Parts: sequence; C-alpha cells; structure tokens
Amino acid sequence: MVQDRRVLVGVGGGIAAYKLCEVVSTLAKAGAEVRVILTDAAQEFITPLTFATWLGIRRMAIGDFWQPSHDRPLHIKLGEWAEVFVIAPLTANTLAKLAYGMADNLLTNTVLASTCPILLAPAMNTDMWEQVAVQRNWQQVQTDPRYHTVGPGAGILACDRVGAGRMAEPDEILPYLYSLLQTGGKRDLAGKRVLISAGGTREFLDPVRFIGNPATGKMGMALAQAALHRGAAVTLVHAPLNGGGIHGTGVRSLPVISADEMRQAMLKCASDADWIIMAAAVADVKPAIYSPEKLAKSALPNALPLTPVPDIVTELAALKQPRQRLIGFAAQSGDIVTPAKEKLQRKKLDAIAANPIDQPNSGFGSDSNQAVLIDKNGRQQAIEPCNKLWMAHRLLDFVQGI
Ligand code: C5P
Repeated sequence: MVQDRRVLVGVGGGIAAYKLCEVVSTLAKAGAEVRVILTDAAQEFITPLTFATWLGIRRMAIGDFWQPSHDRPLHIKLGEWAEVFVIAPLTANTLAKLAYGMADNLLTNTVLASTCPILLAPAMNTDMWEQVAVQRNWQQVQTDPRYHTVGPGAGILACDRVGAGRMAEPDEILPYLYSLLQTGGKRDLAGKRVLISAGGTREFLDPVRFIGNPATGKMGMALAQAALHRGAAVTLVHAPLNGGGIHGTGVRSLPVISADEMRQAMLKCASDADWIIMAAAVADVKPAIYSPEKLAKSALPNALPLTPVPDIVTELAALKQPRQRLIGFAAQSGDIVTPAKEKLQRKKLDAIAANPIDQPNSGFGSDSNQAVLIDKNGRQQAIEPCNKLWMAHRLLDFVQGI
C-alpha cells in the first residue's frame, strides 16, 4: 500500500517521541521511503541511532541543516522530496512557529519549503494545551488546508495528569498518513455528514448464547476513517468491533449489540446524514424467545424458533430524502454480481458493494478486501484485492460519481 511512497517524519521534543519508533518501523517494514528530522529537543528524548537503525544514517536529519554531502540545501531537498509530512509529537513551541510561519530550524524550514499535506499530532501537558495562546495557534494552523490534525486525545499523561493533551496513537496516525498518500490531502467530503454501520450484530437467546456472524467491523471502520480524513463529519453505529473499536477523537461512535438496537440508532441518525453506508453484517433472523436468566443445558430447545429481523437498509430507503445517498453491501459466495444487482433494486439503494467471502484475503475479518461496485445507473467498477482503507477510498470516490 505504501511501497516506495515518500514519508517525511518530523519528531518534536516530547516524551511521546517514543511512539514515533512504531510509526517509522511500520512504514519502513511496509516498504515506504522514510526520512526523519529530529529537532534538538527531540534528541533529548530519543536518539538519532534509534531511527537510523531502521532507516540508515543517511535517512536521518538531526539538528539544523546537518548535510554532509548535499548539493542543495537540505530543507529544499526534503521539502521537494516529501509526498506527506507528519510532525509528531507537535510541541507548543513548534505549533507556535507554524502558526506564525516562522522558520528557525530544519523542521520548520522544511515545512515552508514543502507543499505536501502535513499531519500534525500534538502532545503536551493539559494546562499547556488549554492555554489561550496554544488554542489560538491550534485554530490558526487549521485555517491552512495543508494541515491535517489528529488528536490530541484525553488520558493519563506522562506528568501524571489525566486530561487532554495525549498524542494520538500510531494506529490513528498511520491510517491518516495512508489516506493522505491516497488522496493527496483533498477534503472533498467537507461539509458532508456520513453515517456508517459496522460489525456483526448479535441476537441473544439468553445472556450467554447468541446468533452472530464473523464480521469484525474492519470495513466499516476503514470507511469511517477514510471519510473522516476527507473532511466528513462521521457517525459510526457499530456492533461489537475487532480490537474494541475505532480509536481517536474524530468519529462519533455509537455502540450497539443487536439488530434492533442498530435499527433504532440508524433511524435516529439517518435524517441528518447526507450519505448512509450500511457496511454492517446485520442478522436476518433472531431467536423468537429470550431468557434473561442463563438457560440450563437441559432447557435449551432442540429446534430454535426464529423470527425475522426487519431489514434496516430497506426502511432507510423508504425514508430517504433526495439529497441523500444510500449504499449497501452484499457479502456473497460464488457469483457476487447477480445477487448484488437484485439487492440493489429490491432494497432501493443508490449503490452496492458486492464482496466475495469465499476468496483468500477478503471478506470477514481480513485486512484486505475486493469488490464489485454497482450503482443504480448501471455503472460497475471492479476493485482488485487491496487494503480495506484503500477500498474505502475507492468506494467513496464511486459514491461521489452517483
Ligand atoms: O440481504 P443481505 O443481508 O445480503 O443484504 C445486505 C445489506 O443489507 C447490507 O448493506 C446490510 O447492512 C443490510 N441489511 C440490513 N438489515 C438487515 C439485514 C441486512 O440493513 N436485517
């Protein structure tokens, strides 16, 4: 996904600098070309050798304009070279410099000498973060479309405080970088409200047993991240998710368990949404009986009576306003296109993503997926096997074209 893509990492002076080890090693292992700039303050927390061990010393830039063998100024070379630039941890000091367009070290000079999207991941003590001056600078940088932001979140800080100022985790920073590489930083969904469902619902017979399916919610989470990174306001209604859910502050997350709960949440949120994407694997049936106490093995029915679950996406279609787009998924084995076309019409969808569950590296639980996208106007587009975040961006592009 990021093979040979050029990622510039600017590390600031904060204890969260250690998290950049994971970011850089993940990128390097995935085949990306990575260069790292360490500020003087960053070197108080982490050494150049740490990054050089993964990348080689020539891919490191430490201090100001350290350039043993360059024919051109290093900040110009790095600025032209970078396809995406991440600055993390972003300190109050560097933030202030960015807000005012100052350039007094290699990192800030490279910011001004580059034109690629820049991802900012601030980290600082809560009192520092909440200072009027810091908040003013934070608002100021966000008026520049080059800057994308991730975090900070709230949590336990290194100074023992619990509060805002915790740097985003690598599992939030990395997908954002991947999105920026995919989109070039465009915010084509700014102003759009996107409602997404994810995960596999659970229909309980008693507090212990349920009818479920293998969905992990990865596709829905990837869609939520992709839409967020393109500027949308995202609400994710999700059944239990793999790894506990979507991290970070940007996505409004509404957890549910059963199809009935998902139905209620989706109906409540639908009227505000511009796009609705039903990526969830919703149950078709549920047990007709429910025992609030755990049933003894001897009390379990031999044949389980079932009752249908209402089709949520069909209900949403009946309520759909002309400005809205409604997209469904069809997880299929064998011929995926014919049944998906039938569902597209029967459920009155604007588009459907037919994805195979009988192929390697796609479908339930996989990090990758493949699909055929079909819209109500007869447009059809195959998506070859790719990472789910990649597929999410392709799907969002497809919906833009309806
Ligand atoms: O009929 P099938 O379950 O394959 O349809 C898939 C599509 O319908 C998905 O978008 C899924 O989220 C949606 N669905 C629903 N309510 C159900 C079952 C499926 O909205 N009860």
